[in-house]
Amino acid sequence: MRASWYEKTGPAIDVLQIGTMETPEACDNEVRIKIFASGVNPADVKLRAGQSSYGYNFDRVIPNSDGAGIIDQVGPGVSKNRIGQRVWLFNGQRLGRAFGTAAEYICINVNYVTELPDHVSFDEGATLGIPGLTAYHSVFADGSVNGKTILITGGAGAVGFYATSLASWGGANVLCTVSGDQKAKRALLAGAENVINYKTEDVAERVDAYTKGKGVDRLITVDFGGDLPWMTSIMRQNSCVSAYASDSDKMPRLDFFSFMRRNIQIRPFILNSLPQQELNSACSGVNRWLVEKPNSLRPIAKKFSLEDIIEAHELVESSTKFGTVIVNP
Ligand SMILES: NC(=O)c1ccc[n+]([C@@H]2O[C@H](COP(=O)([O-])OP(=O)(O)OC[C@H]3O[C@@H](n4cnc5c(N)ncnc54)[C@H](OP(=O)(O)O)[C@@H]3O)[C@@H](O)[C@H]2O)c1
Repeated sequence: MRASWYEKTGPAIDVLQIGTMETPEACDNEVRIKIFASGVNPADVKLRAGQSSYGYNFDRVIPNSDGAGIIDQVGPGVSKNRIGQRVWLFNGQRLGRAFGTAAEYICINVNYVTELPDHVSFDEGATLGIPGLTAYHSVFADGSVNGKTILITGGAGAVGFYATSLASWGGANVLCTVSGDQKAKRALLAGAENVINYKTEDVAERVDAYTKGKGVDRLITVDFGGDLPWMTSIMRQNSCVSAYASDSDKMPRLDFFSFMRRNIQIRPFILNSLPQQELNSACSGVNRWLVEKPNSLRPIAKKFSLEDIIEAHELVESSTKFGTVIVNP
């Protein structure tokens, strides 16, 4: 099969190679998927760059966690009825796995493979793994959001956009922070009722005015450390903060008592190793949303051929993308 791989970490242009590898065979509880679309997420490029490792140390890595395609082989323990099924998947190159989705085929445990509804393209399917599931868990892990007020920071990011769409589908009143007019339009398109430019406006003041001093029930943050200075001032009693990144400050100091006195729960999490039950719940929840909101935007930033995977990784690193960058093997 054609595949892209790296044998040492570093800049995409220095380490990503393209060539031919043996096509894998499905083992116990695995399916083999012919990949039509591979999603490139920030964590994929951080792993390739050597900025994070999860303790992996492989001789060769096929990058990218997410993808979509068609099951063409099943291993022992998996029903043959699944052959020919259109699917989306995540955790390709994760959790001790070296071989991800930047290849014509992948073999992976069925736990990470979900049927793709007919109206969703393979390219769109490859946006659902990390962005869709992270967004789903951020929004719903603390229970129903119906009638709740939620602030989502970075509402135009890949995860933030899906979190905004899902929260609004779930009946929440959603406020988003963004960094400019174009991103504001995207967050509004996803279903935000109002947006705050966190670069030019006082977030706490704007939230206070919008909520008439009551604050928010939930905060979903893309930058826990960056949001800390105003965080507790906008949270209601018994509210929750769901945090999936903190790139501007990886070791933030926080005022424990201000969280404790208001019973503010903090939920930092990493999608790939959540308990299987939570992952199942997120996969079926995302599919329910796809069916109930078939016309929702599933943003694709740009598509690349496998030969152009270096550019695809560089686009993710540029921080200028809207949606998920796709590679078509
Ligand atoms: N924990 C997990 O399981 C998990 C899962 C998925 C992603 N992540 C991490 O989450 C981060 C975002 O991923 P993504 O795929 O959504 O990336 P993305 O598509 O590049 O979006 C990130 C968005 O966040 C915005 N942003 C950054 N800092 C912000 C701040 N302080 N306040 C408000 N907005 C801010 C960015 O816009 P501006 O810079 O223009 O504001 C951008 O729109 C990455 O670090 C990724 O590794 C973690």
